[in-house]
Amino acid sequence: MSLLKKLPSDIVILSAIRTPITKAVKGGLAKMYPEELLHKVLTGTIKRSGIDPAVVDDVIVGTVLQTLGGQKASALAVKAAGFPITTTVNTVNRQCASSAQALSYAAASIMAGEQSVAVAAGVESMTHDYFPHRGIPTRIYQPFRDAADSEAQAVLMPMGLTSENVASEFSITREDQDKFAFQSQQKAAAATESGHFLKEILPVQARANEDSETPVYKEITRDDGIRGSVTLEKLATLKPAFTETGTTTAGNASQISDGASAVLITTRAKAAELGIKPIGRYLGSAVAGVPSHLMGIGPSVAVPQLLSRFGLTVNDIDIFELNEAFASQSLYCIRKMGIAESKVNPYGGAIAIGHPLGATGGRLIATLLNGLQTQGKQLGVISMCTSTGQGYAALFANEE
Ligand SMILES: CC(C)(COP(=O)(O)OP(=O)(O)OC[C@H]1O[C@@H](n2cnc3c(N)ncnc32)[C@H](O)[C@@H]1OP(=O)(O)O)[C@@H](O)C(=O)NCCC(=O)NCCS
Repeated sequence: MSLLKKLPSDIVILSAIRTPITKAVKGGLAKMYPEELLHKVLTGTIKRSGIDPAVVDDVIVGTVLQTLGGQKASALAVKAAGFPITTTVNTVNRQCASSAQALSYAAASIMAGEQSVAVAAGVESMTHDYFPHRGIPTRIYQPFRDAADSEAQAVLMPMGLTSENVASEFSITREDQDKFAFQSQQKAAAATESGHFLKEILPVQARANEDSETPVYKEITRDDGIRGSVTLEKLATLKPAFTETGTTTAGNASQISDGASAVLITTRAKAAELGIKPIGRYLGSAVAGVPSHLMGIGPSVAVPQLLSRFGLTVNDIDIFELNEAFASQSLYCIRKMGIAESKVNPYGGAIAIGHPLGATGGRLIATLLNGLQTQGKQLGVISMCTSTGQGYAALFANEE
C-alpha cells in the first residue's frame, strides 16, 4: 500500500500513554486535581520515552470542563513536570474530541514546519469540574436560546437526551443497547485480566486524601469502572437515566470519569535523530458537523469523510476505536458504516472503561496502537461524537 511508504516527513508517535480511568467521585483518582493528573502523564511520558523535555516545542492539552480554559492549570503541570520555559503550552476544547484535536493541531504545526516535537495531552477531573452544571452553561444570552432557530437551542441539549433522540429516530432498541454494553464490559474485563492494558496504562501514585499538605498515596494501576460480572439480566433492570420512558441507562451510557492521556509526536527524521523508535504513525484526521440533537451520529459522517481522502473504505481498517458515548449512537454508527463488529473496540470502550472527556482522544489512541501491536495489524481509526454536533476521526498506522 503506497500509503504506508515511509518518508522522513511522516508524523510518528513516540509514546502514547494514559492514566487508569477511574470513576468520578467514587474512584481511585477522585481526590486529584486536573493539574496533578496531567503532571503524572507528562512525567510518565518523559520517563517512558526517554525524551529530553528541552526538545519539546509545545504541549497542547485537550480539556473540556476546567475553569479559565484550563490554561493556568495545564501550564502549572507542564512546568512542574520539568519542561523548560521554551516549551509552550496551549489548551484545546473540541468537547469529547479535545485531546484528539490536540494531536491534529500538533501534527499540522509540525507538518507546516513551525515545530518539530510536541505532546498532545488530555485531562479531565469530572469529579471536580462536571458538577453541578453537567457541562451545560448556566449563563446564556436569552434571545439566542429563545430564537426560532432550533439548532441554536439544540447545542444546549444534555447528552443523554441526544442519545434518546438517536435511539428513537433510528430504532435502536434497549435490548440491543444492553447487549452492546454487556459486550463492552466483557471485552474490557478480559483485557484487564490478561494484562493487555499494562502497555498503555501508567500506574499512578494517587493522592487519596483531601489534604495536599500531608498527602496519603495509593497506587492505582487499573481502570476501576469495569464490571466484568454484570449480566444482561441485571442491565435490563436498570431504570432509564434521562427520561422516564427512554432506553439510555447508567449501564449502557459512558461513565463519568477522571483521567489523563499524553501522546508524543515528531517527524520520522527527528525521531531518528533523537534515537527513539516510533510506535505508530498519524496519517490524518477529519471533523464533521451534524445536527446537535443527534450529535451521536458524528462518527458516521467523520469516518467516511476521513477514509475517502485516503482512498480507503471501512473494510481496509483493521481496528476501530469508537468512543462509546452511548450504546445507542455506537450501534447507529457501526450499522450505518457497515463495520464488522469484531473490528470495533476489541478491548471494550467508554461504557466499561469510562469517558474522562478531555482525556478520551489520547486514551483511544493509546488503546488503538496497543491493539494494533498486539494483533500485528496495520491500520486503525479512532472516532468520537462530540457535544455541539460534531464527529472527529483520525487514521493511524502501526509501526511496531
Ligand atoms: C447515566 C448516568 C447519569 C449515570 O450516573 P449515576 O447515576 O451517577 O451512575 P451510577 O454509577 O451511580 O449508577 C447508577 C446505578 O446503576 C448501577 N449501574 C451502573 N452501571 C451499571 C452496570 N454496568 N451494571 C449494573 N449496574 C450498573 C449502579 O450500581 C447504580 O446502582 P445503585 O443506585 O443501586 O447504586 C451518567 O453515567 C452519565 O451521565 N453518563 C453520560 C455522561 C456523558 O454525557 N458524557 C458525555 C458523552 S457525549
